[in-house]
Formats: sequence, structure tokens, C-alpha cells
Amino acid sequence: MLNFSFQNTTQIHFGEGQIKVLSDAIPKTSKVLVTYGGGSIKGNGVYDQVAAALSEHTWFEFSGIEPNPKYDILMKAQDLIKEHDIDFLLAVGGGSVIDGTKFIAAAALFEGDDPWDFVAKGAAVTKALPLACVLTLPATGSESNSGSVVTRDGNKLPFMSPFVQPQFAVLDPSVTLSLSDRQISNGVVDAFVHTMEQYLTYSVNGKVQDRFAEGLLQTLIEEGPKALVAETKNDLEVRGNIMWAATMALNGLIGAGVPQDWSTHMIGHELTGAYGIDHARTLSIVLPAVMKVCTEAKREKLLQYADRVWNLTEGDEDSRVSRAIELTEEFFKTMQVPTRLSDVDLGEADIDGLIEKLTQHGMVKLGEHGDITPEVSRKILVTAL
Ligand code: NZQ
Ligand code: ZN
Repeated sequence: MLNFSFQNTTQIHFGEGQIKVLSDAIPKTSKVLVTYGGGSIKGNGVYDQVAAALSEHTWFEFSGIEPNPKYDILMKAQDLIKEHDIDFLLAVGGGSVIDGTKFIAAAALFEGDDPWDFVAKGAAVTKALPLACVLTLPATGSESNSGSVVTRDGNKLPFMSPFVQPQFAVLDPSVTLSLSDRQISNGVVDAFVHTMEQYLTYSVNGKVQDRFAEGLLQTLIEEGPKALVAETKNDLEVRGNIMWAATMALNGLIGAGVPQDWSTHMIGHELTGAYGIDHARTLSIVLPAVMKVCTEAKREKLLQYADRVWNLTEGDEDSRVSRAIELTEEFFKTMQVPTRLSDVDLGEADIDGLIEKLTQHGMVKLGEHGDITPEVSRKILVTAL
């Protein structure tokens, strides 16, 4: 196992009815800015629950944070923050609202010229307003990690800072009942791929990390499809298991002390940046191709994945590996997400532009070995056609 330091400071309040903890979890002296997206929280009762819990607080609201949050919109929150001396941010929504709020929190206290610099130019985030969240879409893990992904002019880029780690996150599975099938699918697939990015690399004998990762993958394979069929889709046990799996998939635990890949995500971000494809739907297209192109580098872990996640123990190594990749694609199809570029109407002619963007964004040494050059990324995209 590799050396690591691990800390996750986000307190989790899990379960039905937990939104009411906001009342005590945020200091009553705070001036709170509640941030949210396009209004789903008004339709499903979450906004009302938040308002009731904050009835003794001074609070304001900032809405309109879109999926794949955009710099220009996020910057509009800055005037509100200054005007009302906001000192606490509460994000109510999915990964986009939480990521956008992380950007707002860091931008509010940024001392450089343009906050985009800490996203695109690696400028240091040295402070941020404190933030917390009420999660409404289990997927990204953003509710308990220090990452955020923001888009400006079609450039979708991540930044990380311990200063934007949420202080606490409310995870009430019942608020996910209003999600569309598409968003449920996206969430399960995103969490699955997060796990794979930290698992499907090479072995460093991280037994705990591997077994945790395999447990998460199996949980998502078992529970994900249940959230799409009529008989079980409203089962709060199903929703709760998906929600907790998605948080655990990217809260730092399974990635501590093991190599990580993230090439699927970085290539996927270009697909979203250029064509607006939902984040998870880019991953379900790219991951199978990464598994195929990088089979040799990942062979040992692919065999372990085949054995422990899919119970494939018969046949020679090559057939177990290709069956495991096939089963991964079948799982994605069961979750109703695309697995080929052609499924989203993209073709060979689109690849040059994507490779150019990857290069422009410095994504030229991807993967656990840093050997996924633009040339290899091209091979991956061609494999995904
Ligand atoms: O805008 P609202 O009204 O909130 O509607 C949203 C949005 O339209 C809707 N929704 C959310 N909760 C709902 C609901 N609709 C009904 N009922 C509910 N309970 O779902 C739509 C999609 O929301 P979004 O937040 O965009 O989805 P997701 O949580 O999948 O977040 C995706 C974003 O997170 C980034 C992605 O790149 C993408 O920008 N990621 C962030 C990561 C991180 N911070 O660690 C890691 C991930 O890999 C990912 O890159
Ligand atoms: Zn993701």
C-alpha cells in the first residue's frame, strides 16, 4: 500500500427527516446564503423543509445554478454576498449546485484578480467561506469531498481545495424520490465510475481499499437497477443504499493509499464541455474503451474485478477479462445510459476537436501511469465509436 494521510471532516446527517438538523448545525448568528438550481427543490418540498429549519436564521437565496455550473452565473452570487455580509453558504441540490457553491465560497475570499485563475491556472485557494449542503441527487460525492468542477466558455475544469470541503452534509434518501429515471441512472453510473477510477489500476496490496471498492461496485450493481423498476423504485432502502454508496465512492476513503486513474473523467469532461452531454453519460461511453485500450496495464486488477465483482472464475484470462468488460457494458445498458459515441450521435469527425481540447487543458499524461497521452486518448475515443 502507498503512504497516505487521510482526513474527511464532513459530518454526515443521514436518514429521513434529517433536514431539520440545519436548525442547530448552522450557527444562529450566521448570515446564510442558500444556493440552489433550477427549482426542483420547490416542487418536492425540500425548499420548504430548509426554510422551516432556518426559520430562526437570517438567510438569503441564490438560485439558477445549472447542471455543469457556469462561471458567469456563479460570479453573480458575489454581489449578494457582499451586500448582505454573507458568512455561510448552504448548497441545496446535486453535484452542480454543490460544486458551484464551492466555487462561490472560494471566489468570495479570493485575493487575486480573477477567481477563474484557481480553476484554470492553479492559483492557490487560501481561504473560502464555510459551506454545507443538503444533497438531493446521489452521484458525485461532492457533498463530502474537496473537489469541484466548473465550466467557462466550454472549458470544463476541476479544482480541489480543503477550504471548500463541506462542514456537513444532509443525506435524506426520501428527497431523491422526485428524481427522473435519467438522473437516477446518471447518479448510479457516476458513483460506479468513481469507484473504478480508484480501483481499476494496479495492485499495491491495498486489501481494505479493494474490498471496500468491490463492495461499493456490487451494491451499485444490485441496487441501481431496482431504482428504475416500478416495484422497487420508491423503496427508501434502495435509495438509501445508493445514496450512501455514492458518498462513500468519492469521499477519499477508497482512494487513500492506492493509485488512481481518472482518465475516463478527464476525457468525459471534454465531451460535456464540447457537447453538453450529461457527466455520467460521458463516463459510460469512455470507461469501457479505457478498459479495452488499457487491458495490459490493468490486467491484474481486471482479473480481480472479473472474479470478485462478477464471479467470473472459469475460462482463460483473456476471456474472463473481455467478459468482465462486456458485463460492465451490460450493466450500463441496464441503467439506460449510452456506451458508444454513436449512441450520442458523435463520430470520427468529432475526435480531433476533443483531443485538441484535452491537450489545451494539459490533460496529456492521464491514467495511473501517466502514459495516456493524447495519442492514447485518441485510441480510446476511436474504440468508443
Ligand atoms: O437544477 P435543479 O432544479 O436542482 O435540478 C437538477 C438538475 O436539473 C435535478 N435534480 C437534482 N436533485 C433533484 C433533481 N430533480 C428532481 N429531484 C431531485 N431530488 O437533476 C439535474 C442534474 O443535477 P446535477 O447537480 O447537475 O447532477 P449531478 O449531481 O450528477 O452533478 C453533476 C456535476 O457534478 C460534477 C459533474 O462534472 C457535473 O458538473 N462532478 C463533481 C464531482 C466532485 N465535486 O467531486 C465529481 C464528479 O465526477 C463530477 O465531475
Ligand atoms: Zn464523476
